[in-house]
This record gives sequence, C-alpha cells and structure tokens, in this order.
Amino acid sequence: MKKSGREASRTAVLVCQGRAAADGRIATGRFADPVAVRLLRVAERTPVDEVRASTPPNGWQARTTYESVRACAEVLVPRTVAIDDALRAHVTDQLVILGAGLDTRVWRLPELAQTDVWEVDHPASQQDKRARLAEAAHVGREPDTGDRPGAELPALARSVQFTPVDFAVDDLGAALDVAGHDPSAPTTWLWEGVVPYLTRDQVRATVAALATRTVPGSALIVNYQAPSVKADAGRLLTRVLGSYATSGEPWRSLWRPQRIAALLAEYSLRVVSDDTLLALAHALASPVHRRSSLQSGRVAVAESC
Ligand SMILES: C[S@@+](CC[C@H](N)C(=O)[O-])C[C@H]1O[C@@H](n2cnc3c(N)ncnc32)[C@H](O)[C@@H]1O
Repeated sequence: MKKSGREASRTAVLVCQGRAAADGRIATGRFADPVAVRLLRVAERTPVDEVRASTPPNGWQARTTYESVRACAEVLVPRTVAIDDALRAHVTDQLVILGAGLDTRVWRLPELAQTDVWEVDHPASQQDKRARLAEAAHVGREPDTGDRPGAELPALARSVQFTPVDFAVDDLGAALDVAGHDPSAPTTWLWEGVVPYLTRDQVRATVAALATRTVPGSALIVNYQAPSVKADAGRLLTRVLGSYATSGEPWRSLWRPQRIAALLAEYSLRVVSDDTLLALAHALASPVHRRSSLQSGRVAVAESC
C-alpha cells in the first residue's frame, strides 16, 4: 500500500447520515439501517435528528447540511434496497466491498453469516471507520465489563478483513492476496457509491483487477452515475466553487449503461439487470422529489459467464 495524503471520506459520512435519517421513516418494511446512526459522531447526528423531525435549522450552513442529508436519504433508500436484494440473490462464500466507507452490511445482514467479507477502502477512510466501530461498540457499556479496549462492533458476517487500498495507486489483487481472499472461489463484488469518484482509467483498472479473481458463480453489483444535465451543471459548479461544493471529492467519471455493460463484457461479466434509482423508488413507493438524481443513479448486476 502506497502512502497518500488524503483524509477520510466525507461523502462516506454523508451517505451514512442519509441512511440513518431514512431508517424507520422511508419505505419501512423494505428499508432499514439501524446501524448507520451508531457509526456517526455526536455532531454528525444533529442534522440526522433534524431531518427525522422535519425541523430545518436556521443559518445557511446548517440548512445546507440539512438539505444534503435529506436529499441523501431519498436517494439512499432505493439504492440500499436494490443492493441488499441483489446481495441476497447472490450470496457466495466471499464478498468484497470496494470503497466500503461506512457501509453497515457486515453488521446488519444475517444473510452474510456464512460469508467472509473483505472491506476494501482508502486507508484514511478505513482507519476512520475502524475508530467509529470501536466507539460504537463501547457506547452505553460500563467501563468494568471487561470489553477489550478498541474492540469493534461484532459482525454478523462470518468474518471481516479490513483491506486498505487506494484504487488510484495500489494493486487491488495483491492487497486481496495478502488479506486471504481466494481468487479460485466465487466472489460477490459490491461497488457502491465509488465509481463517480474514480477516473475512467481507474474504473477500468479496478474492473480488470477484480476480473482476474472472478470465477463462474461470481457476481458484481455496481452503483454508478449516468450523465445528466444536472450532473454536468454540478461539475461546472465544482470548477467554479472548488472543493467546498464536493467535500473535496469531485465526480470524475459518469457512465452510460451501454458503456459500463461493454466494459464488463470485456471481462466476461454479463449485465443481467441495470435499473435507475427512480424506477426502484417508484417500486418502493418511496419519495421522488429529486427526480434527476434518482434518474441518473443506477444499480447494475453482472454475473460471471
Ligand atoms: C460516497 S462514499 C461511499 C461509501 C460506501 N460504499 C457507501 O455507499 O456507503 C465513497 C467511498 O469511496 C472511497 N474511495 C474514493 N476514492 C477512492 C480511492 N481512490 N481508493 C479507495 N477508495 C476510494 C472513499 O474512501 C469512500 O469510502
């Protein structure tokens, strides 16, 4: 793993806030993420509580955060449900979560009880997550319960290996080798909320790397952004406002469904479904105030052939 000066991902926190804000409020019965709030720090819970109570704060900065969390909640519900469903339909012995951020599935999905999971993420983001897991494990516990200091929240998955990788510079395959992933056994790959932050070349390189460890019986679940007028406007705004508008994490690549399918086909991964978040939100009867974001966000499932 090469050294990189980056900080922990702030967008990972934002999407976690979105899931926490939606839990028990949107698409109940189909969506639930009670673990998300446990990974948030006290100040990060404030906008979540405000969204849950529909009490927007005063002041433009607090209001901007409130609106971001609210928007995120709407987008994250169909995205999470679609991915959870796809995961349940493709349970294998190995699950690799690429750019895991504050993903909670290891601690949330009992269907992973017989699955070994590798959470791959940028080293800074992963270190931050591990600190949060340790804090979450100790909240509400008495100091004399004999808990191991630094112990993390117990996983529902059979095992979890934290595997630090910067997709921009590191060798994903080598990192997974070190972490004990078996390239000859079927793997389910999950790649949620990461593709836009990578360049086209980094996306290609990552697909090429995972394909060498993908045997028949494997599947890739990928969430990506298709081009849209709003995405173009957002990218223009980023150029004007700089990193404030993007939390220092600008979008670098948008993919048309045909392009992503063609890329995956080069590596013997056949797309079996590819839906917009808008269609998924309609199916769930969840809110669709942000039509354009929901229309350009997609979840595709590809199977190894
Ligand atoms: C928006 S977050 C999504 C996190 C998680 N998958 C989710 O949906 O909740 C983006 C994630 O991509 C990771 N990421 C972005 N660029 C990366 C890179 N070059 N190498 C490794 N991880 C990266 C960040 O660390 C962060 O965890």
